[in-house]
Amino acid sequence: MYTHRIQSAEDYHSAVQQSRENPEAFWAAVASNLQWQKPWEKVLNWSFDPYAVHWFEGGKLNITENCLDRHLAERGNHTALLFEPNDPKDRARRISYNELFMEVCRFANVLKRNGVRKGDRVCLYMPMIPALAVATLACARIGAIHSVVFAGFSAQSMADRINDAGCNVVVTADGMSRGAKQLPLKRTVDEALEHCDTVSRVIVYNHLNWQPEMLDGRDVWWHNELEHVDSHCPAEPMDSEDPLFILYTSGSTGKPKGVVHTTGGYATYVDYSFRNVFQVEPNDVYWCTADIGWITGHSYLLYGPLMSGITSLMFEGIPTWPDAGRFWSVIDKHGVTVFYTAPTAIRSLMAAGIDHVLPYNLHSLRVLGSVGEPINEEAWHWYHVHVGKERCPVVDTWWQTETGGIMISALAGVTPSKPAHAGLPLPGIQTVLLNQEGKEIEGNDQEGYLAVKFPWPSMIRTTWGDHERCYQTYFTAYKGYYFTGDGARRDEQGMYRIIGRVDDVINVSGHRFGTAEIENAINLNRSVVESAVVGYPHDIKGQGIYAFVICEQLPERPEYLREEIYETVSTAIGRIAKPDKIQFVSGLPKTRSGKIMRRILRKVAEGDLSNLGDTTTLLDPLIVDEIVAGKV
Ligand code: PRX
Repeated sequence: MYTHRIQSAEDYHSAVQQSRENPEAFWAAVASNLQWQKPWEKVLNWSFDPYAVHWFEGGKLNITENCLDRHLAERGNHTALLFEPNDPKDRARRISYNELFMEVCRFANVLKRNGVRKGDRVCLYMPMIPALAVATLACARIGAIHSVVFAGFSAQSMADRINDAGCNVVVTADGMSRGAKQLPLKRTVDEALEHCDTVSRVIVYNHLNWQPEMLDGRDVWWHNELEHVDSHCPAEPMDSEDPLFILYTSGSTGKPKGVVHTTGGYATYVDYSFRNVFQVEPNDVYWCTADIGWITGHSYLLYGPLMSGITSLMFEGIPTWPDAGRFWSVIDKHGVTVFYTAPTAIRSLMAAGIDHVLPYNLHSLRVLGSVGEPINEEAWHWYHVHVGKERCPVVDTWWQTETGGIMISALAGVTPSKPAHAGLPLPGIQTVLLNQEGKEIEGNDQEGYLAVKFPWPSMIRTTWGDHERCYQTYFTAYKGYYFTGDGARRDEQGMYRIIGRVDDVINVSGHRFGTAEIENAINLNRSVVESAVVGYPHDIKGQGIYAFVICEQLPERPEYLREEIYETVSTAIGRIAKPDKIQFVSGLPKTRSGKIMRRILRKVAEGDLSNLGDTTTLLDPLIVDEIVAGKV
């Protein structure tokens, strides 16, 4: 039976077999690697129609005991978090498991002192500094549900997320540094809270020594609060199915949804997938470059590495500052052994030129990982050759906010890697390809819609406040399956290559947006009548955002209106959602029933004008000529 780590191809195949023959026994064995306060009574209870999945019912645990307490006796002095600040001239910081444990307990007591109780929602809007890890774990310690909002989101986006979740406390910092830029986080929180009435307390971490305005009766300083608490804070006993966190992500509708993950299943799967995919060793210095504001940061910067008791590096800055050698210099400086980043970062560093890599020896590296979007062959090879020196297996990990953990990936050095292919599913993950009618496509060398036919422990449980939406989004397109929204190809060996989204979601530098969400934002501009957004291939970002915009009058100085629209989108969502191209048009290609023919717009945006398909069914076929002529 599966025990700790899959270490050979035979182990892999036997684990796959066990997980199919007796899924409950398989997952029970996996879950028993964790420390439970009370054992579960039933491993799995499930239905995809209607949707309800319960893992390890009756079991009690606290994920922070698994991340912290259980390591203290033997590894208390081992570095848990290794912090590399934005500015390379500032000192890096090592926080041992003992220290992290104490900081988490103290801040958990601060949360309690400020009225946070089990089940309350706490919004975290923070820089990538250890205080964010501490605040996240402190929520989990007392059973509060954390909702981390990526600090690149605007005040309006934050307000929407706070209101949707009904948060009562916000934790933030005065400001943050990213490369040469600094951002006023507290001021953004103040703006957001003008539109929220559930928040009674804002706890502010002093990071940059700015002196933001503090609202009497609402805002308190983190460091002042610490003076009133001790470091004793027992871990709240959590039911396996108690929510651990909400993380908002975009779908094909205009409104982001709060993906809910629960405690026992999430902890089990993240721990299992982390150990196996990266083939973790006790002295690894592991670096995941994702922000904790995304699922990758939750699962594989914070929870996964800490459950394994290893050192997780946390980096405040960006890959290109002070120069495009920063990643490589940090790897050499700290002896990083496992490095996990996004294709968009690899492509931008590749574009910066090999001279930024050559000064570094990168000898410490053992495993390389990629996540968030398809990695093209050129970037894969560059990563493998120039970073991994052809010594390090590259794991291309496919998964989603909704899946909680890595679903399809090589296990480093154990199962095969192939450029631009995520590879084989992890044991226990039953992926299938479906055709248009929702029938399973058998055999290899096939293409279809990627779906999963059996539950796994860290799958989305619900969308916060709207279970029907969760059911409708993931379980109704193909009855009996979890539908991922991705198209994929299975090669002759059964290895999966992800082709990309088949819904109205675009993936820009690994960040997910709904086209409707960006259109709604653009339409807020008072000159705009209507817009349509599509993705197009972008050399660095993977996909770029192309917006077709109808305005009341075609602007005389389009560049002014473009700037205005950038501002509108930045205010509504954040700078990360700014369109790359805006084309002003007098109409959109619509069918007689008023539906926008996005296929045509996508072709124009891609620059593929040779075959626009049948346009005779359009309300106004001439509009296509105008759009083609005006392509930007
Ligand atoms: O389209 C797939 C793409 O990212 C989507 C999930 O986005 P998000 O929930 O933001 O999570 C990103 C980090 C896990 C997927 O539906 N995607 C993610 N990883 C890969 C990928 N596409 C190709 N290859 C990958 N390795």
